[in-house]
Amino acid sequence: MPNINQTNAKNAKNDEFYTQYADIEKEINAYLEFNPNVFRGKTILLPCDDPEWSNFTKYFAQKFESFGLKKLISTSFAVDSKNYKKGYKPTAFETSNPQFDKTKTTKNGKIFTLSHDKTGDHKVNVDDLEWHYLTGDGDFRSDEIKKLRDESDIIITNPPFSLFREFLAWVVEADKKFVIIGSKNAIAYKEVFPLIENNKMWVGTTSFNKDLLFISPEEIDSSQKPSTATRTVDGIVYLRSPSVWFTNLDHGRRHQPLPLMTMADNLKYSKHKEIKGKKSYDKYDNYDAIEVPFTDAIPSDYDGVMGVPISFLDKYSPEQFEILGNTQRGCHDKVPDTKKYDDYWEVKPNGKKTGSSGGKTNENPNLRGNDGKKNYFVNKKGRVIQSVYQRIFIRHRKSTK
Ligand SMILES: C[S@@+](CC[C@H](N)C(=O)[O-])C[C@H]1O[C@@H](n2cnc3c(N)ncnc32)[C@H](O)[C@@H]1O
Repeated sequence: MPNINQTNAKNAKNDEFYTQYADIEKEINAYLEFNPNVFRGKTILLPCDDPEWSNFTKYFAQKFESFGLKKLISTSFAVDSKNYKKGYKPTAFETSNPQFDKTKTTKNGKIFTLSHDKTGDHKVNVDDLEWHYLTGDGDFRSDEIKKLRDESDIIITNPPFSLFREFLAWVVEADKKFVIIGSKNAIAYKEVFPLIENNKMWVGTTSFNKDLLFISPEEIDSSQKPSTATRTVDGIVYLRSPSVWFTNLDHGRRHQPLPLMTMADNLKYSKHKEIKGKKSYDKYDNYDAIEVPFTDAIPSDYDGVMGVPISFLDKYSPEQFEILGNTQRGCHDKVPDTKKYDDYWEVKPNGKKTGSSGGKTNENPNLRGNDGKKNYFVNKKGRVIQSVYQRIFIRHRKSTK
């Protein structure tokens, strides 16, 4: 287990991931394909950015005219307020500007705005960005940035990892359109899942199967796990993170139904050995639902509740399915758990007790039996259960019969 200080240090570093231009372009293109006028006449706010070199600012400034934007606003967080500021130096762009201020450069945030042709070349683009120091440090929670939020139509950014819940609440309370990046783990947060369940937020179009690669301002240090620091190209460190885009802007993938086989065909022909050749799908021990371990194994003709992996959200069409809840964390009022395991105890695959009570598996999706690979739970009557990964509960929207 990492200690608190290690966790804080990791979070501080994770707050300084920068998004690649190609990832922004790919995601934003999906919204434009669905609605070419999605940004027309709109004010876009890019908070929690570093406008001098942020790819968000660069991308939207370059596309200002073709998207028909009304105004672009981008704000940054003061260096002194950041948890992780290793290697910070003001850019030549700032130091060579008459506005440069030795104190404000670290104490204040900055604001960049783009709304008209400043240079007189009859184009509105990156060259027309105007900037000044903010009065405060650019914290998205400050009144200064809240005011900018309230005047904008769409909020787009990769917010600080450690403040994701707060950031999302900040966007939602103002009832704004948004496209933001967050960890896949955030899906299960009790502040996040209800938005997904109620179709107030969904995942973007970038595939769930691939982690995003972000640019890190740090140099690789030897204490980092090789799986986290993935590669260095031309001196730039790219870090892999299990992140996805979250949005309430519509895109076409949401309206494409998943092609599915019937339950009988899955049991006969599924490419998954866990399904093929079985007599039936497993039923949970503690939920009135069947276990569907793969999204492409969802039976087309089952009318009851199904537990599916989180990556289902990547394929979710609200016309095809209804989301009913999420195992764990009390997000499943519509599919209540029917059993508790407080009188069970946990056992390692080698048969040794771990010392933990079965209460820790309450609300997990549990199946009867033991696969011999993972810890399991047993009661004094010898009844054995084992939990599978976190599941989302869904049901076909239309009766399949
Ligand atoms: C994950 S980085 C992303 C930066 C940029 N949006 C991008 O994607 O390239 C998040 C940024 O938010 C900044 N930040 C951290 N806490 C903040 C806060 N309370 N208010 C505003 N920005 C904050 C961090 O310093 C960091 O620069």
